[in-house]
Amino acid sequence: MATTTAPGAAPQEVRPRPARPRTFSGIKPSGEPHLGTYLGAVKRWVEMQDEYDNFFCIVDLHAVTVPQDPAALRRRTRELAAFYVAAGIDTAKSTILVQGHVPAHAELGWILNCITPMGWLERMTQFKDKSAKEGDNRERISAGLFDYPVLMAADILLYDARYVPVGDDQRQHVELTRDIAERFNRLYGETLVVPEAVIAETGARIMGLEDPTQKMSKSEDLPGQAIGVFDNPGVIRRNVMRATTDSGREVRFDPSRPGIYNLLTIYEVLSGESRPAIEARFEGKGYGDFKRALADLVLDVLTPIQERSRQLLTSGEVDDILRQGAERAAPVAGATLLRVKRAMGLA
Ligand code: AMP
Ligand code: TRP
Repeated sequence: MATTTAPGAAPQEVRPRPARPRTFSGIKPSGEPHLGTYLGAVKRWVEMQDEYDNFFCIVDLHAVTVPQDPAALRRRTRELAAFYVAAGIDTAKSTILVQGHVPAHAELGWILNCITPMGWLERMTQFKDKSAKEGDNRERISAGLFDYPVLMAADILLYDARYVPVGDDQRQHVELTRDIAERFNRLYGETLVVPEAVIAETGARIMGLEDPTQKMSKSEDLPGQAIGVFDNPGVIRRNVMRATTDSGREVRFDPSRPGIYNLLTIYEVLSGESRPAIEARFEGKGYGDFKRALADLVLDVLTPIQERSRQLLTSGEVDDILRQGAERAAPVAGATLLRVKRAMGLA
């Protein structure tokens, strides 16, 4: 820890503590962002950003834990950053950075590897699910995929983040981050801030439109499963109209009817209306009328975001934002890394 010692005085910490509590979160630039990513993550970040000192990351080093086409990765990294800004992340309140632009992420990731037991990583359900998709063919699963949650812990811990706003699927990874921070502090003394996940009651697990028993994600097997935030209006409308529902008629929040329940949840989060108000609005109307209204609502929200994203990308403004983001983030991350290295005898 950086200290100054005036003669006769107790050592004083010179590292300025952030005035507002920190938040950190990130999204992988693999696949296109979709309505689940927007509702579970980015929309929440926008709503929370005034109260906190925020770092929002494009986690490109996580994306490459599975093979990526280099040109597509480069394009998606910029597009995701543009999406953050277009959706309402304000660079006056929040820092937007690309993980790979700040080398401290990889460096702390390595260090934390050395204190993280294999057994903890073997219990991660996301790893189990993703590796099962490869039929457990060990030649096709990278060591990086196994190690993914340790890099995520490094991301969060580098910024002394108190809060980590994420969708429900990331709960276990944030728990692991807490375990890693506590273990580090036990081994080397109080060094790292132990963070907490912030998960919304509604919208933290948006389900797919074709198969509402699976969470929404871009899937080649089910092309209508996700609404991409950059999809064109015709595709969005068609996918909403074709979304799987049941043979019922009443537009009601009934968890035993997963298709309509999920569409209603999307409506609820996008409109900000209460459940009774929504049910009253569609009283006596069928699923078709409701789906048309939902498609309109999705387009009302996404169209301006798409337009703004395009401007940010073509003007090059997004590149300036990312350059500035890395400049702001690097000293914060660097200070924590130095603290860690000093605690361990690496500096
Ligand atoms: P990813 O695209 O996997 O990097 O996820 C980015 C963020 O979006 C994480 O906070 C996820 O928890 C969240 N997220 C992803 N898919 C969904 C979904 N279907 N519903 C709600 N949140 C999601
Ligand atoms: N693992 C997260 C996901 O798949 C992405 C991520 C990486 C992240 N680093 C993070 C989320 C730090 C929150 C905080 O969605």
